[in-house]
Amino acid sequence: MNKSIRPFAFLSFALLAVTAVYAIDMTKAYEMPDSSKIVKDDLIPGATEYTMPKDCKLDDLESIARGKYMFHNLNSKNDKKENLPKGMKTPKGGEVKAYGNCVACHNIEGAVGGGTVGPPLTNYKANFIDTKVRDAQFVYQKIADPRVDMKTTAMTINLTSKMFDEREVCDITAYVLQVKQEKKTKK
Ligand code: HEC
Repeated sequence: MNKSIRPFAFLSFALLAVTAVYAIDMTKAYEMPDSSKIVKDDLIPGATEYTMPKDCKLDDLESIARGKYMFHNLNSKNDKKENLPKGMKTPKGGEVKAYGNCVACHNIEGAVGGGTVGPPLTNYKANFIDTKVRDAQFVYQKIADPRVDMKTTAMTINLTSKMFDEREVCDITAYVLQVKQEKKTKK
């Protein structure tokens, strides 16, 4: 071998060797989780029927306040723990969970930027409960898993998806059923 290329040959060999060693170790350098298991874990189970728990306190003012908070909560990122209604769960680390956001799709008394994807829920009690078109169980089920009576609904699935727990669904049900005053807008 030509003497002048010897150092280069040696260097390339050394580099190759180092690369090979690292290439072997790379398999351990990052996790290789079973992706099919992850996809399966992420799938929401099919339409599930629920019975409204007996301890759902639909007249409880604290429950209604929590329901209201969740219903109108568009973006909780800037919300402070101090502003949460009594009894509201606060996640660890101080950040408030992005709750509810029903207002994105439904209009209701006092809504700011109420959406129109879902039907308006204004005067719900007078329009639907007092007329016996709906009952509390229907509303609870609709919030928990809206697919039961409408397979192709655009509404979010809240209990089957574990986005909310039973008590939170009770709180929101209580708020939807509450008789509310339409806020007078200032002129
Ligand atoms: C992505 C849009 C969307 C979001 C978010 C949403 N909904 Fe709905 N909702 C709908 C649509 C569409 C319907 C009509 C179809 C149906 O009944 O499933 C509906 C129907 C309903 C009904 C039934 C009205 C009736 O008497 O027929 C209730 C009650 C309701 N939503 C409450 C809520 C509450 C409470 C939340 C928040 C936890 C919420 N929705 C979030 C879209 C949405």
